[in-house]
Amino acid sequence: MAWRGGPARGFFLAVMFLAASAARAQFNFDVPFVPTPYPVVEEMLRLANVGPADFVMDLGSGDGRILIAAARKFGARGVGVDLDPDRIEESNYSAQIQNVSERVTFEQQDLFKFDISQASVVTMYLLPSVNMKLRSRLLNDLKPGTRVVSHDFDLEDWQPDQKSTVRKNVFLWIVPAKVEGHWRATVALPAGERSYRLEIRQKFQEIDGLARYDKKVAGLWNPKLSGTHINFVIVDDSGFLESNLYFEGEVAADVMEGTIVRGIGSDRRSIPWRAARIPQAQ
Ligand SMILES: C[S@@+](CC[C@H](N)C(=O)[O-])C[C@H]1O[C@@H](n2cnc3c(N)ncnc32)[C@H](O)[C@@H]1O
Repeated sequence: MAWRGGPARGFFLAVMFLAASAARAQFNFDVPFVPTPYPVVEEMLRLANVGPADFVMDLGSGDGRILIAAARKFGARGVGVDLDPDRIEESNYSAQIQNVSERVTFEQQDLFKFDISQASVVTMYLLPSVNMKLRSRLLNDLKPGTRVVSHDFDLEDWQPDQKSTVRKNVFLWIVPAKVEGHWRATVALPAGERSYRLEIRQKFQEIDGLARYDKKVAGLWNPKLSGTHINFVIVDDSGFLESNLYFEGEVAADVMEGTIVRGIGSDRRSIPWRAARIPQAQ
């Protein structure tokens, strides 16, 4: 095929290419563009249990494929952020072609400066050092319960809540509520109100602790924290109760509340409970 446009067109294209490269060189990319393969995109969104109510953020969104799939296949909304203006243009074009530009947008910004607080799901395919640089923001800026999925790279000693190995490693974390500290839990029993002082230690989603009551100390058995959902068991062997108490509840800042199941079989009862954070000095 003949070269249409001759040497002048070749020169024009070379100048355009160099101008685009120079424009890109002004950005300090923390990660090169390598797109996540589609089977892995699917697995990331499946693992995060993305649905129509979600607002997904892809940090370093590349060609936009993760968000576009989240909108097309799961009805989610979201925003992608990438430093590269060419990637943003490509993503907006793909979103338009695939009829999801109402649901997803792409912004040319530095992911480290981007406000992530509104996400219900965060997706990342970055690098180990970049994940670690982001970790405290994921823990502190995201709402408890937000799901974070990462392709290939983990968050070191913040263990994932789930891991998949479909083609590549995919990790899922659920941002844990902050429960470290002391709490006063009250339980309204038919015989009167019962009170426990809960002392909880926390490392990411891993918790343990004890309960003080009637000058006794009991462990918190089977402690589990998943986002805002907390479970533990107190074996109350005081004459007052003599029962395993299966606590289950939701944490909202300085209050936890939910239901205790006590007794088994025909003795099984559900009782509401509520705990308030005790200020540190007390
Ligand atoms: C490995 S690619 C992942 C693309 C997409 N998330 C995916 O999984 O298919 C990483 C992307 O991060 C972008 N990037 C690198 N440093 C960035 C920064 N500081 N802020 C925003 N985006 C950045 C790159 O331009 C690239 O598109």
